[in-house]
Amino acid sequence: MIDDGNAGGSPATRPETLVIHAGQTPDPGHGAVMEPIVLSSTFAQPEPGKPLRFDYSRSGNPTRAALEACLAALEHGRYAFAFGSGCAAGAVLMHTLRPGDQVVCGDDVYGGTYRLFNGVMRPLGIETVTVDMRTPEAVAAALTEKTRLVWLETPTNPLLHLADIAAIASVARTRGVPVVVDNTFASPMLQNPLDLGATAVVHSTTKYINGHSDVVGGAIITSDAELAARLKFLQNAIGAVPSPMDCYLVLRGVKTLAVRMQRHVETASELAARLEKAPGVRRVAYPGLASHPQRELARRQMRGPGGMITLELDGTEAQARAFLQALRIFTLAESLGGVESLAEHPAIMTHASIPAEVRRGLGITDTLVRLSVGLEHVEDLWRDLQGGLAAAARVTETRAR
Ligand SMILES: Cc1ncc(COP(=O)(O)O)c(C=O)c1O
Repeated sequence: MIDDGNAGGSPATRPETLVIHAGQTPDPGHGAVMEPIVLSSTFAQPEPGKPLRFDYSRSGNPTRAALEACLAALEHGRYAFAFGSGCAAGAVLMHTLRPGDQVVCGDDVYGGTYRLFNGVMRPLGIETVTVDMRTPEAVAAALTEKTRLVWLETPTNPLLHLADIAAIASVARTRGVPVVVDNTFASPMLQNPLDLGATAVVHSTTKYINGHSDVVGGAIITSDAELAARLKFLQNAIGAVPSPMDCYLVLRGVKTLAVRMQRHVETASELAARLEKAPGVRRVAYPGLASHPQRELARRQMRGPGGMITLELDGTEAQARAFLQALRIFTLAESLGGVESLAEHPAIMTHASIPAEVRRGLGITDTLVRLSVGLEHVEDLWRDLQGGLAAAARVTETRAR
């Protein structure tokens, strides 16, 4: 957590510089340029009850504090809290609520968020109602006197729908309801929800922020002092904190976030345009395409359409399986946002915890495939996708024979 609101002491303001320097200064003892990994679980106190800065690593740790300062700066917030996963960050935020409270949540969110809200919080007396966040009016209509939180993702996972953060925040503000935005898909390079009126931002730092698929982590960022005080208490009381080693890895990964996001966007834009014209593809969802119904909102709210593409194959689940299994550079795996390209089948993999009828109602069909476009050469990736489409086409040809 930081509270000085000045990027952890860094004079920089541009994200390209903040990713490298915010929260980090050469250590006074040795001049180490990279943030030291302080593994100590406890800290010597000069006098009883008077620690220097930290007393016990669950409550606070120097490597974690550097990461938190960096994340606060990147999301233009005063306070940041790091957690052991994105789900842990979400669970801690949900613990700011009480039985009888209600959450208005987007209907197209990460399957684990759906599971947390319905499988963990609902039995504790916290109800969730889901709405299509593409229409701020739907949010306004869903707010009741019990609503204590609006939770949204934009772009959504996996359908890449957008929610107008400023419009929803303005609707919620008139009713005194905080708005939480899961900014994992956009990353702070492409979108800053706090600037648009959101109360808090959640990240799975596992994804773009770390970017190397070697850490599971999460974070909450806010400028609301009252919420921050509660989160600070819960971070320590619940104890779902990341290890100093993981904090270091995220700090190292985030240094290249600006250049990585630039390349993710360039390559994904090219692949999305080619996929849209490819035989065997029914539709492509990518906020940078002219065919995306919310392209104008993407331009207004985001600084780039991101590195995720969702496509629906024209065919059967067997063909979607054949497509995925034929890929050689895209790895068939859950997760996203790493340097390596990944492909997955949301209905079978990431979104399996959402009941089949709910999935179908949303449009998460059996031929929907989600791509996380990595940093490999665009032509290699394109050839790989063409190989996948050819394998899918062969399934029908074999059947026809
Ligand atoms: C948008 C989004 N939010 C939250 C999470 C949960 O993060 P984690 O896996 O770090 O717990 C994920 C994981 O895929 C995600 O995609």
